[in-house]
Amino acid sequence: MLFNRFYQFDVDLEKLELKGAYRLSTPFEIALPLRWIALLAGKVKCDLSASTGVHDAAGAAKMLLAGATTVQLCSALYLKGLGQIGAVRDGVESWMNERGMKTLADVRGRMSQMQSGSPELYERLQYIKALVGID
Ligand SMILES: Cc1cc2nc3c(=O)[nH]c(=O)nc-3n(C[C@H](O)[C@H](O)[C@H](O)COP(=O)(O)O)c2cc1C
Repeated sequence: MLFNRFYQFDVDLEKLELKGAYRLSTPFEIALPLRWIALLAGKVKCDLSASTGVHDAAGAAKMLLAGATTVQLCSALYLKGLGQIGAVRDGVESWMNERGMKTLADVRGRMSQMQSGSPELYERLQYIKALVGID
C-alpha cells in the first residue's frame, strides 16, 4: 500500500505538549503516492494499492492510470459519507466509457513511468520547471 498514513502529532505551543494532528487528508496529498505508484508500477513484483488523498473519481482514475491495482478511500468517506464509494465507481466508469476504455486493464499503468515515452518527466523535477510548466 502506498502510502498508509501513520498517526501524526502536532505541538501545542501554549502547553508545550504533543497533541493530535488533524487526521483527515486533502485531495492535494495525492501527489506523493501518485508519483511513487507511477514510478514503481510494472517494476515491482506485487500489486500496488493507492492510499492517501484519493477523494473522488478523478483521484481514483489518476491512481489507476499511474498503475494502482486498487484504490483506497478513508478521509473522503468521513467527509462525504459511504455513498462516495459508489460515486467514485460511477465516475471512473463514465470517464472510461467516454474514452472507449472497456476494462480496468485498459487503464492500469497506462501513465506509469514504464509505459511512458518520456520517463524522465517522472524523475526529480526542479521547481523552476514546475512553475513554468513541465515542457
Ligand atoms: C479516523 C482515522 C483512523 C485511522 N486509523 C488507522 C489505523 O488504525 N491504522 C492505520 O494503519 N491507518 C489508519 N488510518 C490511516 C488511513 O488508513 C489512511 O492511510 C489515511 O487516512 C490516508 O488515506 P485517505 O487520504 O484516504 O484518508 C486512519 C485514518 C483516519 C482518518
